[in-house]
Amino acid sequence: MSIPSSKLAGKKVVILGGTSGFGFATAQAAANAGAQVVIASRSQANVEKALAALPKSVTGATLDVTDEAALERFFAGLNRLDHLVVTAGDTAPAFNPTTQQARQAFEVRFWGIYLSSKIAAPHIRPGGSITLTNGIVAIRPWKGWALTSAIAGAVESLTRGLALDLAPVRVNAVCAGMVKTPLWSGMTDEQREAMYADTASKLPAGRIGEPEDIAETYLYLMQSGFTTGQVVVIDGGAVIA
Ligand SMILES: NC(=O)c1ccc[n+]([C@@H]2O[C@H](COP(=O)([O-])OP(=O)(O)OC[C@H]3O[C@@H](n4cnc5c(N)ncnc54)[C@H](OP(=O)(O)O)[C@@H]3O)[C@@H](O)[C@H]2O)c1
Repeated sequence: MSIPSSKLAGKKVVILGGTSGFGFATAQAAANAGAQVVIASRSQANVEKALAALPKSVTGATLDVTDEAALERFFAGLNRLDHLVVTAGDTAPAFNPTTQQARQAFEVRFWGIYLSSKIAAPHIRPGGSITLTNGIVAIRPWKGWALTSAIAGAVESLTRGLALDLAPVRVNAVCAGMVKTPLWSGMTDEQREAMYADTASKLPAGRIGEPEDIAETYLYLMQSGFTTGQVVVIDGGAVIA
């Protein structure tokens, strides 16, 4: 079934984390579907670089999703929006993080999502939505990644809870498997390519995901007016492999 892209035409779509990876691909796809897209992330340089590569209609702002006062100012200054997408995120430290690192790891991927959703909701027009971001470690942990699994599990439950608390705003989450994005740029090229090849060899889909694969799911959840409280897995079959 094809989804008419015109459902996003003229809608204001705000993407926190829209300067890279999932968010950037979603900004591109939403702008191509006729939405009025606003991207935001912490670094002005990243915002400018992303805007230079996106359609001219896209605008940008610098914003840290952990800064409550900045979020209040940002959404108050937007003059309403239709859809919020939160892809802002990082990787949590794996294998024996200190207690301080473990607590800190919740800042962006849990508290950033929580604050953004709560603060944005009153500014969302009728029929609008919030789409959050998660990973399949919520369902299928990797050895050494207990902390990341816990954050992802919390985001999954938060999605269902917020769908009730913030209704009639719809709240859903995209739950991704491994995808080729700058998130993995901290590894050497050799390590990263070996990880991609090893993962791809085990996936029913036979390849690693691309950001554009994941963007389709954000677009679906924004447009599907009868879907709320859902966590949609898009992982090339990783969970069943
Ligand atoms: N890629 C994967 O394989 C994968 C799989 C499953 C789940 N995920 C999760 O999906 C999310 C997005 O991943 P991605 O691959 O798109 O990552 P990415 O390419 O590294 O993009 C992350 C984006 O978040 C922004 N950001 C980080 N901290 C922020 C903050 N405090 N406030 C505002 N913006 C912030 C970054 O820009 P600035 O640095 O300019 O702030 C960047 O635009 C992450 O939570 C990641 O853990 C990724």
